[in-house]
Amino acid sequence: MQIRSFATPESLSSSAAEFVCDVAQESLARAGIFSLVLSGGSTPASTYRMLAQVSRQRLLDWSKVEIFWGDERCVAPTHEESNYRMACKTLLDQISIPEENLHRMACEGDPTIGARNYEQTLRSRFSDQALPRFDLILLGLGEDGHTASLFPGSEILEERERWVAPTYVPHLDSWRISLTFPPINAASTVVFLVSGESKATILKEVLAAPAQAIYPAQRVAPQGELLWFIDHAAGQLLNTPS
Ligand code: 6PG
Repeated sequence: MQIRSFATPESLSSSAAEFVCDVAQESLARAGIFSLVLSGGSTPASTYRMLAQVSRQRLLDWSKVEIFWGDERCVAPTHEESNYRMACKTLLDQISIPEENLHRMACEGDPTIGARNYEQTLRSRFSDQALPRFDLILLGLGEDGHTASLFPGSEILEERERWVAPTYVPHLDSWRISLTFPPINAASTVVFLVSGESKATILKEVLAAPAQAIYPAQRVAPQGELLWFIDHAAGQLLNTPS
C-alpha cells in the first residue's frame, strides 16, 4: 500500500489525473486496451475535470479505453444524484470516446434487475476470466468508512459470488447497485481519492489498522497495487498519536 499526500485538493486532482494517464498508457502499450472503473461521489469530480485536460495533453487514445462504474444510485442518468451524470459533466462530455465504450450502470428501474444486467455485461466482457480484472479502479471513502456502495453492516459486504449486487442504504433511504469485494480485489490497481478535513478522522481509523477490517474500505485489498491519494487536510491526523 502506498500513500501519496498532496498539499491541496488541486494538486491531488492533477496528480491523480496524471496517474490515471500513466496506468492507461502502460495498459495500452501492454494490452492495447485500458479498463477504468470510475468512483461516484463528489471528490473525484475535480480529478475527472483534470483528466479530460491531461488526457488531451498526453494524447490518450480514448477509443481504446473502456469505462465502468464502481457503483450507482438507482436514479435516472439525468438525476443530480447520478454518478454517471457527474462523470459526463466533468469528463465524458469533454473527451472523444465511443458510446459503446461507456458501460453505464442502468439501475434506475428495479435494482435487482439493474445489478443482474450489469453483472451480465461484466461476465460477457470478461468471459474468459474467473473475475473481471480491471486495470484501474477509483474509489472514494465515506465518513463511515464505506466505499463504493459497500456500507457498514450491509449484507453486500459478505457477497462472494455476485460481482454486482443491489443494496438499500437505510440512512440515505436510497437503493444503489455496487461492485462487490471480489471484483474490486481482483483489480490490477486500486486508488482511493480522499480529500478534505471531514475525512481526517475516518482516514486515520482506516489506515491505523487496515487488517482489522472493521470498515468496508479496509477490506479493499487488491491482488495488485493499492494507493491512497490524499490531501493534507484529509491526512492531518495521520502522524498524531492515536
Ligand atoms: C458514491 C460513492 C461513494 C463515495 C463516498 C465519498 O456513489 O457516493 O461511490 O463511495 O465515494 O461516499 O463521497 P464524497 O467524495 O462525496 O465525499
